[in-house]
Amino acid sequence: MRVIAPGRVNLIGEHTDYTGGLVFPMAIDRWTTIDYDIVGTEIVLDSADADGTVSIALGQPFDATMTPSWGKYVGAVASLLQSPRAISGHVSTTIPVGAGLSSSAALEIAVALALGCKLPSSELALLTQRAEHIATGVPTGIMDQLCIASARDGHGTMIDCRTLEVKHVPIPTDVKIVVRFIAHRTLVGSAYADRVAQCAAAESIIGPLRDASLADVASITDVTIASRARHVISENARVVSFAAALAGGDYSVAGAIMTDSHRSLAEDFATSNEQMNSAVHDMCATPGVCGARMTGGGFGGCIVALCEPDAVVDGWHVQPVGAAHHAV
Ligand code: GLA
Repeated sequence: MRVIAPGRVNLIGEHTDYTGGLVFPMAIDRWTTIDYDIVGTEIVLDSADADGTVSIALGQPFDATMTPSWGKYVGAVASLLQSPRAISGHVSTTIPVGAGLSSSAALEIAVALALGCKLPSSELALLTQRAEHIATGVPTGIMDQLCIASARDGHGTMIDCRTLEVKHVPIPTDVKIVVRFIAHRTLVGSAYADRVAQCAAAESIIGPLRDASLADVASITDVTIASRARHVISENARVVSFAAALAGGDYSVAGAIMTDSHRSLAEDFATSNEQMNSAVHDMCATPGVCGARMTGGGFGGCIVALCEPDAVVDGWHVQPVGAAHHAV
């Protein structure tokens, strides 16, 4: 048997999910696959891309010291499922690890499906988000798992992270989306958790950032907290205007909104760096590129660009694909 889970690239709506904001990611044509048999009394998995064999007895509590370390994602998912089944299988992936394209969320969802999880997509996403927290200790939002669990072929996945409502938005075929890898990163030990705390600090002063306006930011005296709030409030608005520009075929406007999102992440949210800034700058200076931004948690990873179809750009021309599923 086989399960397949795609990676995702976030087009816009960065660092908004954990404040109940708006995000607009897209599942991409890079996948994690598990080929398995339902057999034995344990979960046994090896990987084409990492050393070691993961073996976990059913009913075993999560073991934070387990090796190989990628097995923590497997163990965390197994520990949250009601009655996971015993399997023996092989994992392989075409999603680069540590690139901000959600290789870990794809693994968690593929594991959940292989272990027999039949939850609807939003519950599957919540369960695997908890697994990510258990495995890494990083308080990530719902975007990656919900995109991978609910994406539709040919569409982006606009998510209201407050209600978990998903809107499938067609990706026009007369533009191309290019992802360029810049540098490896990990969110473990990064400033990600600090950003989550800074957003919570802003909300303790002005209420939910989702409901706040830029004028409200004036009442935050701490300049760092104020700038984090300014990013999130303006980014939620950018998601709405980006989706409208894309639907209206106004690609130069959509691209400019992406580039403005990057500026906001660099200046107000401080999740970019010189290398990412100069990659975005170079990308935007390339003929036929409408706009570009860093994508994902930041501190490295990839940039994403919206391009005219005949633009000549280095990177992967990614396609919008459907959700994780059992292959027939
Ligand atoms: C990571 C997290 C997501 C989201 C992004 C930033 O990918 O897993 O939940 O917070 O960073 O937008």
